[in-house]
Amino acid sequence: MIEVRGVSKSFGDNQVLKSISFEVKEGEVVVLIGPSGSGKSTLLRCINYLEDFQAGEILVDGAAVGYNASAGGSKRTRQSETEIARLRTKAGMVFQNYNLFPHKTAIQNIMMGPVLVNGVSKAEAREHAQALLAKVGLADKANHFPSQLSGGQQQRVAIARALAMRPKVMLFDEVTSALDPELVDEVLKTLRDLSTEGMTMIIVTHEMQFARDVADRLLFFYQGSIIEDGPPNDVFANPKTERFQAFVKRFQSGTVAA
Ligand SMILES: Nc1ncnc2c1ncn2[C@@H]1O[C@H](COP(=O)(O)OP(=O)(O)OP(=O)(O)O)[C@@H](O)[C@H]1O
Ligand SMILES: [Mg+2]
Repeated sequence: MIEVRGVSKSFGDNQVLKSISFEVKEGEVVVLIGPSGSGKSTLLRCINYLEDFQAGEILVDGAAVGYNASAGGSKRTRQSETEIARLRTKAGMVFQNYNLFPHKTAIQNIMMGPVLVNGVSKAEAREHAQALLAKVGLADKANHFPSQLSGGQQQRVAIARALAMRPKVMLFDEVTSALDPELVDEVLKTLRDLSTEGMTMIIVTHEMQFARDVADRLLFFYQGSIIEDGPPNDVFANPKTERFQAFVKRFQSGTVAA
């Protein structure tokens, strides 16, 4: 469902992604962990083409993102903005800061994309939005404004808003990091439910226990490279690198910011 092949990206002289390659199969949940600045968010942004990359290719559901390879595969040509916009709807992305529109209710926030971007009728969008609110446990909050919702509830509305576009894959970037500890679990439950339903997902998180429970595969990022890749229990039991061991140890002693 997602194929990342030899993707490299630099900001000026700073190479942030160093020929990254991996695949995510349909229904698979891949968790990315790694130190601050190791390139996790940049990679997610490249998958949604919110960020350009200089080498390699990314395919979502079989379609190239950002560039079309020429027949021989040697030359890359940038896709048109329309093509990029259409492909972008294949991947739903949710960030740490949920950024709901403050003057729209929960259900209006969820309906906007389908109505304005996908040309869905208001009635159909409303029905789907209501079902999504029920799915994230907020059926009774449809007419609340963001300011009338807790952080965890707002984040769940943001997830429903991304799902409303009927994405093929979901990308989550530290969606619980800005939440008070007691609100983290309700958002993680939503992610667990999505995984049970078979949604293909890449999740960047510092929630180690959650990663171990939910991930089919764990990728450990270090300075723009993937240096561990495997089922979480294998990676935790038999890490190949000292970097990973050190990361987990530092993490457990609480010196890595969540
Ligand atoms: N727009 C930008 N311009 C220049 N450098 C950037 C930009 N965005 C990110 N970087 C750099 O790219 C590197 C990787 O950043 P990225 O945000 O991907 O890390 P991360 O693994 O998500 O870290 P964190 O855990 O702190 O979120 C960092 O060195 C960062 O300074
Ligand atoms: Mg990040």
